[in-house]
Amino acid sequence: MDHCHVETDSEDELPSNWEERVSANGFVHYVNVAKNHIQLNHPRTNKMKRVPLDLPYNWKKRVDENNKVTYYNELENRETSTDPRLAFSQEFSNDKLRQRFDSSTKAVSILYGKNLTGHVALITGSSSGIGYETAKSLSNFGCEIIFACRNEKLTMEKMKELEQENSRAKLNFIQVDLTNLKSCKTFCDKVKTQYQHINYLILNAGVFGLPYSMTSDNLETTFQVCHLSHFYITQQLSSMLNENSRVIVVSSESHRFANLPAMPLTKEILNPPPSKYWSMLQYNNVKLCNILFAMELAKRWQSKGVSVFAVHPGNLVSTNLSRNWWFYKLLFAAVKPFTKNLQQAASTTIYCSVADELKGISGLYFNNCYICQSSKLSLNENLATDLWNISNEIINEILQKT
Ligand SMILES: NC(=O)c1ccc[n+]([C@@H]2O[C@H](COP(=O)([O-])OP(=O)(O)OC[C@H]3O[C@@H](n4cnc5c(N)ncnc54)[C@H](OP(=O)(O)O)[C@@H]3O)[C@@H](O)[C@H]2O)c1
Repeated sequence: MDHCHVETDSEDELPSNWEERVSANGFVHYVNVAKNHIQLNHPRTNKMKRVPLDLPYNWKKRVDENNKVTYYNELENRETSTDPRLAFSQEFSNDKLRQRFDSSTKAVSILYGKNLTGHVALITGSSSGIGYETAKSLSNFGCEIIFACRNEKLTMEKMKELEQENSRAKLNFIQVDLTNLKSCKTFCDKVKTQYQHINYLILNAGVFGLPYSMTSDNLETTFQVCHLSHFYITQQLSSMLNENSRVIVVSSESHRFANLPAMPLTKEILNPPPSKYWSMLQYNNVKLCNILFAMELAKRWQSKGVSVFAVHPGNLVSTNLSRNWWFYKLLFAAVKPFTKNLQQAASTTIYCSVADELKGISGLYFNNCYICQSSKLSLNENLATDLWNISNEIINEILQKT
């Protein structure tokens, strides 16, 4: 039997107060329990490590009623709180993922030299802002774009703009309204009849700062648009995604200010009634859902070979996102000279879509075209599983009614 190398060198020993843990995406992270701080790099060697996604043969994971996780070896009748995969961790080369770009990099600089002819990108919310810039950049390098947008007139105008710039652009509008699951279903059915395969599924559409409103499916709008409908579309399109595909979930650094409880997560917390709704907090929570979803999807689709990444495009990037309140419009306009322009804001999504060095890698969060440590809550495996299950429950309830 081929045994994996077990790290034993003393340099690899952790300083006191540090613990090794494994996150849902199979990356080892290091926790300073005294300071309540986590990081991806070993505190002594600065190296990153990954473990296999599956537990070794004969091992089972157990979660008790207090949410305490232990591992049980059925053959040896032995229980431990240490993840047995840590013994099989392998160094993850920083060189392979050395930082090639930064916050000022434009999307075109990442695409320079690429030929995406024959590739298909499906981008939600590509009629405006960062999604439109992502579509424009990819299409200028030969990629066919499916504009997954709700506003036909606006989208056709934007597509015309692109065609005037690049007469060879391959663009296709397929309407979807993310406030309605039936519309998402019809959309996915159309995509499946027109295409065999999707290379880049870019879940970009979003709303921010909305006064409380309910969708036609009786859900809070921010939750349905930013998370639930994207979750549903991804599952519906599963058969079109394989080892040559990447799913990019556009999240935000604001996920760090979310207040979802680690346990237990409920439908009401995700989909609050008007009395418990605060638009800013709801946005932060759904952006956390974006990362939790990406991490769980990466795990579940590991055997399919699909790479899944969550990204932060930039802070207060001047787009239509601020449309819902005059104050946000003013704020976004005031800071425009100091924030990323659209080319820079599209670059992390583009990087995660096309960078060769990300092949075979999945379940990471990126900012400024480089790996970024997302919040502790976003790495909570149980929360990610709960979100997955509750999202499925809500979808089933809605579909049964319609
Ligand atoms: N701008 C920033 O500073 C910033 C920072 C962090 C993260 N982000 C994230 O980046 C993503 C893109 O945002 P943006 O800044 O480019 O904003 P944007 O210009 O407002 O674009 C949002 C897109 O989402 C679409 N959309 C909204 N509701 C929809 C629905 N019900 N059905 C279908 N499409 C819908 C919009 O279409 P319509 O035009 O038809 O409404 C629009 O195309 C969002 O996920 C956002 O959370 C942005």
